[in-house]
Amino acid sequence: MTELKKRVFAANWKMHVGPDDAREYLSAFLQRYPGHPDREVWFFPPAVSIEAAARAAANRHDVTVGAQDIHWEAKGAFTGAVSAPLVKAAGARAVLVGHSERRHVFGESDAETGRKVRAALSATLLPVLCVGEKLDEREAGNAMAVVTRQLDAALGDVDGPNLDGIVVAYEPVWAIGTGRNATPRDAAEMHKHVRAWLLGHGARRAVVLYGGSVNQGNAAELLAEPELNGVLVGGASLDPFGWAQLVQTGAA
Ligand code: PGA
Repeated sequence: MTELKKRVFAANWKMHVGPDDAREYLSAFLQRYPGHPDREVWFFPPAVSIEAAARAAANRHDVTVGAQDIHWEAKGAFTGAVSAPLVKAAGARAVLVGHSERRHVFGESDAETGRKVRAALSATLLPVLCVGEKLDEREAGNAMAVVTRQLDAALGDVDGPNLDGIVVAYEPVWAIGTGRNATPRDAAEMHKHVRAWLLGHGARRAVVLYGGSVNQGNAAELLAEPELNGVLVGGASLDPFGWAQLVQTGAA
């Protein structure tokens, strides 16, 4: 999957885009975006659309489909939940873990993110661990401490070689869906911190994405910052034409 040198453009569709719409979206997007040797495009559809999206993108090696969340158990009496093996069977190759909305809307704990990372690794799904501070935490000067706590809890038990198979997305909570993105400098500062954490724990490579109000207007400026290995995008990924444009021009 990801080599360090490739830029990652990840689309988080959240609770949008059903199976039929996913097929239509992918067909429009793939026509518009023929691929680029230094880029990968990842889609995180809602669970019901994973299979449709994965099939629609099956011929494109630069496109990966993932799940937005998993339960940490592989199977069992967990009504409403989906597991790593289940999403993998539907075609997922990656999974978001600890997205801000999972943490702050659904009350997911740091400890749960650790269980989910381990579940993803044992199913050979690529975990994309989302971390990020809230506005009051940033204003109090605690942003790095919060992100360190989230990394310790989710990845503290993962050994060096497995850390190479993990991607971290820095998504400050105050920037998600607000139209207020972090400046490239603020994002780079946190990316350096995350990278140092990963390398300090035995990883040989560290892929760190930025997310939070990325759009066609600011993607190029953010991606000009070499600390950013890519972007994780919600709202601006929902239109296939706008997303194709962002992926084409974002890293130009
Ligand atoms: P946004 O969402 O791009 O709509 O701010 C990003 C995310 O939640 O991953």
